[in-house]
Amino acid sequence: MIIYENYCEAADFLRAKIGAFSPEVLLILGTGVGYLADEVENPIVIPYRDVPYMPVSTASSHKGNFVFGQLGGRNVMIMQGRVHIYEGYSAEQVALPVRLARLLGCERMIVTNAAGAVNYNYRVGDIMLISDQIRLFDPDPLIGPNIEQFGGRWCDMSDVYTAEYRFLAKQAASELGLQLREGVYFYFTGPQFETPAEIRAARILGADAIGMSTVPEVIAAVHCGMKILGFSLLTNMAAGMVKTAYVPGEVTQTAEMVKDSFCNLVRICLTRLP
Ligand code: HPA
Repeated sequence: MIIYENYCEAADFLRAKIGAFSPEVLLILGTGVGYLADEVENPIVIPYRDVPYMPVSTASSHKGNFVFGQLGGRNVMIMQGRVHIYEGYSAEQVALPVRLARLLGCERMIVTNAAGAVNYNYRVGDIMLISDQIRLFDPDPLIGPNIEQFGGRWCDMSDVYTAEYRFLAKQAASELGLQLREGVYFYFTGPQFETPAEIRAARILGADAIGMSTVPEVIAAVHCGMKILGFSLLTNMAAGMVKTAYVPGEVTQTAEMVKDSFCNLVRICLTRLP
């Protein structure tokens, strides 16, 4: 269990490294957009392994660094690579960086991920604006004693992905001439991909995309009062939707193909977030 004093200790560690720098936006970079972190001006790079209580990324496509600096004219705290529950961490550990960001002053979060398309109207390479999320059975970071300093016990989840931010993202996409899908992200922990039956079930329950991340971080962010914008990069059709089985490397290959437009979209949104 991570207690409030532990979060404060980790935040103090980061504060000592970043000095007077004050981040406004937490940017969690999933597969495909990690290289946005390389564009940060005056970067201060802090490996996760140095930060007290911070879990370390083990997924090969994820670097494990916090990067603080300026991007798109904003003061950002970037997670270059994230950690997942399937790596053996608790939901609370996975959500820890969000709470650190909040302690450092971030009131906004942009989260991105790679996901499988569950909606038959979608195509590989599409970008989906996340309108809402579904977590039915998998671990929840708020289980356990509530930490009042972050938020109340029963937190409202009726406007998770801030409506104002979604409006702004749709406008930015249309200016870029980019078709933007909008739909519901359904969360399974993985690490195995889903069965066709699981995908059918998720579709019936309202899913448009499926993935193994984002939801624990987003729950913690809502709890501590952050405004959230989320995007899924649809790297493959989910299991059972196409004849060919999932091809290893498909996720990173698709991400590579669309990374320029995805990064442009994230950059514009970042600049404009109120
Ligand atoms: N399922 C779960 N997670 C994913 C997928 C998928 O099909 N594609 C990318 N991340």
